[in-house]
Amino acid sequence: MGYLMSKRFSWGVGTSAYQIEGAWNEHGKGESIWDRFMHAEGIRPNGDRACDHYNLVDKDLELLAAMGIDSYRFSTAWSRVLPLGTGTPNHRGLAFYDRLVDGLLERGIEPWLTLYHWDLPQTLQDAGGWVARDSVEWFAEYSSVMVEHFADRVTNWITVNEPWVSSFLGHHEGVFAPGMTDWSSALKAAHHQLLAHGVAVREMRRIAPDIAIGIALDCRPAHPRTDSNEDVMATRHFDGYRNRWFFDPVFGKGYPADIQTVYMERDQWPSDLVRDGDMDLIAEPIDFCGVNYYTSLGIDAAHAEIDHSEGRIGPPADDGFTEMGWRIDPQALGAFLRRVSDEWGPTSIIVTENGASFSDGIGPDGSIHDDRRIAYLTSHIAEVERISTQGVPVDGYFVWSFLDNLEWVAGFDQRFGLVHVDHGTQIRTIKDSGYWFRDHIAARRNDPNG
Ligand code: FCB
Repeated sequence: MGYLMSKRFSWGVGTSAYQIEGAWNEHGKGESIWDRFMHAEGIRPNGDRACDHYNLVDKDLELLAAMGIDSYRFSTAWSRVLPLGTGTPNHRGLAFYDRLVDGLLERGIEPWLTLYHWDLPQTLQDAGGWVARDSVEWFAEYSSVMVEHFADRVTNWITVNEPWVSSFLGHHEGVFAPGMTDWSSALKAAHHQLLAHGVAVREMRRIAPDIAIGIALDCRPAHPRTDSNEDVMATRHFDGYRNRWFFDPVFGKGYPADIQTVYMERDQWPSDLVRDGDMDLIAEPIDFCGVNYYTSLGIDAAHAEIDHSEGRIGPPADDGFTEMGWRIDPQALGAFLRRVSDEWGPTSIIVTENGASFSDGIGPDGSIHDDRRIAYLTSHIAEVERISTQGVPVDGYFVWSFLDNLEWVAGFDQRFGLVHVDHGTQIRTIKDSGYWFRDHIAARRNDPNG
């Protein structure tokens, strides 16, 4: 398994700013749409303190090193760096990320920096947010500031995380910030995020030609529950709405015509949305495609609300499901990675998120025996490794998540971490899965047949 031994294969863990940092208004940080949304809705717990990573960063760096992690994916909070979204940078915000990046490098850990993990500065939301085309320029400015400051130390960059979630859950379903419920706005937000991605890639490369840039797209592989024509058609539609809508344009195929037609028939398609040249900008070549995978979905045309997410509350956790109610389906990960390679053809694929929510706590022996997470990771990593030996260019795998963190509106009850966090005391304890992952990485690095 030479690919695994090669220096290039990255074994990592991921986090995002709002889910771990806390310090939501400290040292000049501006308000973000997630601060506003959680406060306005009165949702608790919220990210005001989260894992207090802003203050505990040195401890967290030590934990990453203790687990033998070789790559760490984190996001930077736009409003910590540019409190008003554009304009003068906040030097204390940049200093925090300097400390993080330098601390990683000192420990031999490769930083993977995500620029946008859903936390738009509130001032920009007040000016129209992603629904406004100006957002493309705002993001270009922010990404330039970051690349100018960090490209000497950070090689791997991700522009936008899961644009489907922030566009459709945020602007159509209204369950995520900024809490809007309008189809056309969701389509605009999605288009502007994709455009912002493409424009930023161009600009970032101009400033720092040697960095590697990608995007992290979420996927929901779907299959028909039966082979009836209705289920097959519904599955095709769901796949278009959820997967192809993002993968197709990023890889130069434009928006899927079948889905666009549906939006037009429903009067949801803003006719002036796509301007000349937009699709070329969105398809700006990237160095890798990030794929976030958790679960697959069986589509039943009679019951599926195929234009909605499948709902966040599922059946109770048993052998087949995680506590998010997400079905455990490792084969679908392998099959989707194969599809990404065959259908969209990126030169490199990184599994930027994969993991499971199980709430095992600290046992009488002081350890956390999260065997179900170990089983989940074992089966999914096996698929990644299998598919890699069959010509699919997978070059990295990141567990979601490093820490038990704030799972957005689901709070602290959904625990995805390799490290347990007591959110009262902020005490961190490495779970059995954390040690398991450490040993897996070490075994792959030492494989004599590599
Ligand atoms: C993904 C998000 C990540 C986390 C996981 C469980 O959609 O990118 O922040 O919430 O789901």
